[in-house]
Amino acid sequence: MRLQPNPHPAKELPRKLADTGSQPSGFGGQTQRLFTSGAPTSYDNIPYLGNPRYETHPNCLATVGMLLGMKPGPLDSCRVLELGCGMGGNLIPMALTLPQGQFVGIDLSSRQIASGRALAEATGLTNIHLKSVSVMDVDGSFGQFDYIICHGVYSWVPPAVQDRILSICKQNLTSNGVAYISYNTYPGWHQRGLVREILNYHVRPFDDPDVRTQDARAFLDFLGQSVVNQSGPYARILQEEAEWLQKEADWYVFHEHLEDYNEPVYFHQFVQRAAAKGLQYLGEALNHTYHMHDLRPEVRDRLWQLSGDLLHLEQYVDFLRNRMFRQTLLCHDDVQLSRAPSAEILMELKMIAIALPKAPNPDVASDALDEFHHDDSSIRTNNPVIKAALWCLHEARPRSFSFDELWIAVQERLGPGPTADALRGESGRALLANDLLQCYLANMLGLLVQVPRFTAEASARPVASPLARLQARQPSAGKFVTTLFHQRAELSDLDLAILPHLDGSRDRTALLDVLLAAVAEGALKLHKNGQSLPPETIPESLKKYLHLSLQRLARCRLLMA
Ligand SMILES: C[S@@+](CC[C@H](N)C(=O)[O-])C[C@H]1O[C@@H](n2cnc3c(N)ncnc32)[C@H](O)[C@@H]1O
Repeated sequence: MRLQPNPHPAKELPRKLADTGSQPSGFGGQTQRLFTSGAPTSYDNIPYLGNPRYETHPNCLATVGMLLGMKPGPLDSCRVLELGCGMGGNLIPMALTLPQGQFVGIDLSSRQIASGRALAEATGLTNIHLKSVSVMDVDGSFGQFDYIICHGVYSWVPPAVQDRILSICKQNLTSNGVAYISYNTYPGWHQRGLVREILNYHVRPFDDPDVRTQDARAFLDFLGQSVVNQSGPYARILQEEAEWLQKEADWYVFHEHLEDYNEPVYFHQFVQRAAAKGLQYLGEALNHTYHMHDLRPEVRDRLWQLSGDLLHLEQYVDFLRNRMFRQTLLCHDDVQLSRAPSAEILMELKMIAIALPKAPNPDVASDALDEFHHDDSSIRTNNPVIKAALWCLHEARPRSFSFDELWIAVQERLGPGPTADALRGESGRALLANDLLQCYLANMLGLLVQVPRFTAEASARPVASPLARLQARQPSAGKFVTTLFHQRAELSDLDLAILPHLDGSRDRTALLDVLLAAVAEGALKLHKNGQSLPPETIPESLKKYLHLSLQRLARCRLLMA
């Protein structure tokens, strides 16, 4: 990658580097573009390829609300507003899985909204409205919403827009509603912010977003490799950031580091701003502060002594973990909350596997240590009840369990003995509920108010999610499709070849014909151990692969009931 020379440092600096005050002196240039409906934005130029985020789904928000004492309304008929919805990558799959709900998404970028509308229409949705307007234009006429979502926007907009986002969460949220706002937070973002400021200084002579992005990448690599003290903290920060950015796409690097605005806040500042609008802190959608089991007991005690209440505790834990991102939930300040998540309420919810066991067949009944992981989180546990519960859920994927079903399954999995005996009766149920709550807080267990409609078994004429069928045809989506559980799944070439044809009109024979035709046309290549399959074995192999592929698609929660 060529490093661009930095010929004339005469160009205007991004605001953060150019002025010292916290408020811009006026709304000119890029700020103006971020502010006003109709004007072109950097997202029209380089769209942001948004994904489904389970932690923003009403099912997830209602779960947190219920565990903390709220009584959210029925999910089926919920109304959802997403601010800065981009191309609808998050809102469209929600509208698909909650067909009786009403979904409104707004975004300043008309190009992104046009793409989102086209996808919603092609998916056949009539319960979603995507509008190309600014956050500044949302008013009471939009109506009331049970859930308001604002992901990846708050930190990237000027203070006036940030303020408006909070006002909307007050004005347009139903009395028992939940608002989700994610934001970059300190102290963690100081590290990333340092890199961002350096990169913005370096790329200031260039206008072209591609040149800016490539040059920023190259300059960061150069810096990381050239710092004199290669084992010191400064070199480590630069190298870690460069490594992280290498894995990210150009559009992401551009919007993450080279946008004009990036305004992280401390947690305590964010909740103060929310309180000033009449909103209170409910909890986090993910990475709950309550999960402190990885901390030594004396550390936990000290944190509680230092903080005294939940809000201060949250801030102190951020200091300890060097947190850089939050996905905070807010509700009206007159809602009565219980400040500790309730294991009793958990018994009313549905449970679903999200964690993968590391060992192929853990010895659940013993007290040997086993590891489970999900995304970036993992737990090591020797608790036989937790191991048995996570293992039962894993084996039964994609199906969900009620609390009582899981209670029985765990006892059977443990087999006769004192651990299973301890699970009997009301005290045993309470024991299991407490263990499951810890798993949920550690991001190892999915809890649901309502189970999405998907099937664990492919039917005679399988039907896949219409959205995933469209995505499987779009090369721009890569190998990823959106599941009916509001997550992304990475599929094989064979899965992607079959998925668009799962519209309920084809049985196994017809599906096999589709695959044979794809192989004959060269659109699908079959290999075993790096070698092409001999032509005479292809029909039999495809029959087996089709069976396995349908099983995999069902497991990924892509097939409709
Ligand atoms: C980083 S992207 C996040 C998009 C999406 N929420 C996601 O997570 O994939 C930020 C989005 O905020 C939108 N945005 C910025 N300022 C806005 C404003 N004043 N009103 C509405 N949308 C805005 C941008 O157009 C862009 O789509």
